[in-house]
Amino acid sequence: MKGTGMKIGIIGAGNIGATLAHKLSEQGHTVKLANSRGPETISELARKAGAVAVERQEAVRDVDVIILSIPFDKHAELAELLHNIPESVIVIDTSNYYPFRDGDIEKIREGKPESVYASEIVRRPLVKAWNAVLAETLKDKGLAAGSPSRIAIPVAGDNLAAKSVALELVSQTGFDAVDAGTLSESWRQQPGTPAYCTELKAGELEAALQAANKTRAPLNRDALIEEFTSAGAQLTHDAIVKRNREVTA
Ligand SMILES: NC(=O)c1ccc[n+]([C@@H]2O[C@H](COP(=O)([O-])OP(=O)(O)OC[C@H]3O[C@@H](n4cnc5c(N)ncnc54)[C@H](OP(=O)(O)O)[C@@H]3O)[C@@H](O)[C@H]2O)c1
Repeated sequence: MKGTGMKIGIIGAGNIGATLAHKLSEQGHTVKLANSRGPETISELARKAGAVAVERQEAVRDVDVIILSIPFDKHAELAELLHNIPESVIVIDTSNYYPFRDGDIEKIREGKPESVYASEIVRRPLVKAWNAVLAETLKDKGLAAGSPSRIAIPVAGDNLAAKSVALELVSQTGFDAVDAGTLSESWRQQPGTPAYCTELKAGELEAALQAANKTRAPLNRDALIEEFTSAGAQLTHDAIVKRNREVTA
């Protein structure tokens, strides 16, 4: 049955990918983990996460779910890799677009949601999940289902069956999963919105998704990242969440 004991391939073994590998293997899933430099560079990391380090081609072979957790500008490298994967395989993407890091992408600047663009680049339907949670939040702040202070994470996608699997996986990583609508609505959980990395509970997150402003979001995103970059290491995790809330309110 989808939802328990699935075979999951994760592409990207950084802050988010490695944490997801750890949490999802703990939940009884069989997890393969790949990066760009090759399995020998992450064998110890994968072992500690309860996963197996593999080449990218192996990570996407014979799996139920593929999670992409790579820098936004690397999606183009994955189109070929995903070309022959059966349609039944669910592809979840955690990425966010930051122009200062990923370069100027005209279509996104003109309003195309990041995940719609990424989906066109990898030529696969995508579910957007775990993008709106800071790596540290994901790693340290998950709670059991039903905990009153459980933080919520938005999940967007067009295929309802695929999205329901992603919602279940998000919950298994320790967070309430909120259905944020279709991929075309997923700009509501992009950087600079009130839903993005603000550590809200489910009801608050639903309100934040509704309150998102498409024109303001990229301005907030750029202002916040500039502030965080100039503050450097002095900025605590709590201060980042606080500023995200203040600037996007
Ligand atoms: N950090 C956060 O707080 C956070 C929160 C939510 C979402 N996100 C988003 O999630 C994505 C991953 O973030 P991160 O912080 O985990 O990044 P990261 O720590 O920089 O890790 C990126 C990983 O992607 C791998 N990678 C890069 N190009 C690849 C390719 N062509 N094929 C396979 N693997 C490739 C890298 O492997 P190599 O080192 O071998 O190149 C590395 O393991 C980004 O889009 C980010 O915006 C980040």
